[in-house]
Amino acid sequence: MKRVVVLISGAGRNLQALVDAERDGKLPRCLAGVISSRADAAGLQRASAAGLPAQVITPGVFADRAAFDAALVRQIDAWRADWVVLAGFMRILTPGFTAHYAGRLLNIHPSLLPRHPGLRTHAAVRAAGDTQHGATVHFVTEALDGGPRIIQGALMVRPEDTDETLAERVMVDVEQRIYPQAVAWAVNGRLAVQGAHVAALDGQALHQPLSLDDLEAGF
Ligand code: GRF
Repeated sequence: MKRVVVLISGAGRNLQALVDAERDGKLPRCLAGVISSRADAAGLQRASAAGLPAQVITPGVFADRAAFDAALVRQIDAWRADWVVLAGFMRILTPGFTAHYAGRLLNIHPSLLPRHPGLRTHAAVRAAGDTQHGATVHFVTEALDGGPRIIQGALMVRPEDTDETLAERVMVDVEQRIYPQAVAWAVNGRLAVQGAHVAALDGQALHQPLSLDDLEAGF
């Protein structure tokens, strides 16, 4: 059994999607623990309801980023993680951390990367007048929101969309579908980084990320 540690800071709806996928047999049993960077993260209740071990590691008590990341590494390695999954984890990780977990560190970002890295993507999409929006699962490297992309789900922006309606549709229609699938690929040994810059599924380089259509087609 491969072991996955999930890092959260907030609501934990992506964590919940992983818990549900494991319960429904869509994801092999793999969830080994949850770390939250905030003591008040609602995701901690989800972890507890799912019977998952959880730890709070808050950056405020550490001298610097490197010391915070070292504490994360100690806990993740104590849980013997094969994969580390960022799910709404709102801290920028040091190059030391990303190197330690190179090729086994995933993130989900709420935009069609490379468009709109960083925060407040739903507002950015509307400000730019984009007709499409979505979310991307990618390997994490030193480059913020810039690591090899794995799968991306898109939806059409509607004229009446607000930041909130867009965020909700991206979460429910895209994020909660693509992340459990990507984590399943990871723990089933199907996912890797080829060279330094391209993700691969079953040894096939993903020069373009997979899409929701590919999921429908049964990848
Ligand atoms: C999600 O939109 C995720 O893509 C982004 O932060 C949000 C976290 O939501 N990185 P949740 O904590 O999973 O509910």
